[in-house]
Amino acid sequence: MSPVANELELAEPHLGGVLSAAGLDAEYVRAAGNTLYLRGADGQEIPVLDFAGGFGSLMLGHNNPEITAYTKSLLDAQVPVHSQFSRHPCANRVAQQLNAILQRELDDDEPYFAIFANSGAEAIEVAVKHAEFERSGRLAALAEEVAAHVESARAAVREGAALAPTEAGARLEAARRAGDAEGFEGLLAALARENAERLARSPLFLTLEGSFHGKLASSVQLTHNESFRLPFKALAAQARFVPRDRPEAVKEIIEEERATVFDLSVEGDTVTVTERDFPIFGAFLLEPVQGEGGVRVITEEFARAIQDACAAIDCPIVVDEIQSGMGRTGAFLASSLIGLRGDYYTLAKSLGGGLAKVSVTLVRRPRYRQDFELVHSSTFAKDSFSSHIALKVLEIMEAEDGRIYRMARERGTKLVTTLEALRADFPDVIKDVRGKGLMLGLEFHDQSTSESPAIQGVSQAGFLGYTVAGFALREHRIRLFPTGSAFNTLRLQPSVYLSDEEIARLDAALRDVCGVLREQDGERLTGG
Ligand code: F0G
Repeated sequence: MSPVANELELAEPHLGGVLSAAGLDAEYVRAAGNTLYLRGADGQEIPVLDFAGGFGSLMLGHNNPEITAYTKSLLDAQVPVHSQFSRHPCANRVAQQLNAILQRELDDDEPYFAIFANSGAEAIEVAVKHAEFERSGRLAALAEEVAAHVESARAAVREGAALAPTEAGARLEAARRAGDAEGFEGLLAALARENAERLARSPLFLTLEGSFHGKLASSVQLTHNESFRLPFKALAAQARFVPRDRPEAVKEIIEEERATVFDLSVEGDTVTVTERDFPIFGAFLLEPVQGEGGVRVITEEFARAIQDACAAIDCPIVVDEIQSGMGRTGAFLASSLIGLRGDYYTLAKSLGGGLAKVSVTLVRRPRYRQDFELVHSSTFAKDSFSSHIALKVLEIMEAEDGRIYRMARERGTKLVTTLEALRADFPDVIKDVRGKGLMLGLEFHDQSTSESPAIQGVSQAGFLGYTVAGFALREHRIRLFPTGSAFNTLRLQPSVYLSDEEIARLDAALRDVCGVLREQDGERLTGG
């Protein structure tokens, strides 16, 4: 077989074209710490300061020396990587370590069981599937209870009991007539038919406007951005998106969407038709700090509203810490800083230390269904290569009484102070500085009515953030990215090893960007 001779781009060539339009189609040949290296025209390496941080996967930097040395030792020791269906003590140690951290931060003594997976979206998929597994158990128990009530009612009617007139009874009576069946048995047939239909409905998931939980078939339905979600709507259960700015909306939406089944109760010689709620809600998913949606911190008040409303209807809460977790906000879990308690936690990104692809879904014991382990698996999940690396990452994070978390807080504060000073100097250009620790967003004012046709054009196309990123790369050798769904917001997610000098370089680059936007210098911004 001869090698492919032509230069045809086959690996997502369209995406390459889009990146190239913004001047972002760089090829990096090496990476260390917060630096990526481009290969220059004459072969030398050109350093680029990286504030995109692998979209949050590089809390400990590119090719962290301690992690790479450890990884090499694993390979030298011929650690078995794929030994599915055997004992995995290392994965168990990762789970134990995560438990110790969660129990400490959440002040909880329940254990959390761990299901390993390979990517963030997959961890969400696991949470969704597990929640459905657990919900179907609750549905089955409810159906059994109703069936027992039907039997008691049948016996009571045989003994001469009569039906009490109720609104629920009138609704069931209407269903009986629609089915053209006679008498009490006809009513019971209508009840069985109605209930079967209602209980077969897909679960409804709740999440927030601006949420991002991944792009697989079910997780993309929990991702707010319509262009990612709508083409795949038919593939999976749907979500209602709760407005981010109205905590009271949580209860209102639950009230609007709640669903009931018919039931019967017998008291003396009276049979009463009732309607009772069944668990239609699959889960409430949220990111304590929304990442891809524009770096937005969920408030304590909102967290409490979600927690109270979900407790009232026994709806599990999935706390998606895929981006905000692993120490990025200054605590291992960002949710611990706002007093949010979940039934599930998902982690990925930095858990793999920038080298391994690994994610985990943690399920609090009262919700956990161990049979799930027999119906969910992946060839690659829980492999000892990524488990060893994850354990190393946790060891680094927990060392010296959580030095990494303190660094995230301290470096984050320094970075925010710099960004706030920038905003104070350019209030006409910078709209907002948001976030926590080393998960920060810098929002520009809308430029879609800019007097520069070039700036107006890129803004109207939703490319302002990418154009700024292209400018920063070209002119300052700094790698920035907007968040995927908030085009005017740059996401800053450097590693904890961010130096003062690196912050100063970012400051200089952003001051240049702000000057260009203030001057409406479209030509310089777009490089055209
Ligand atoms: N959940 C959150 C909160 C995320 O930020 C992401 C990914 C995922 C789930 C999915 O993880 O990519 O490993 O499948 N966020 C990226 C971003 C893509 O742009 O921040 P994945």
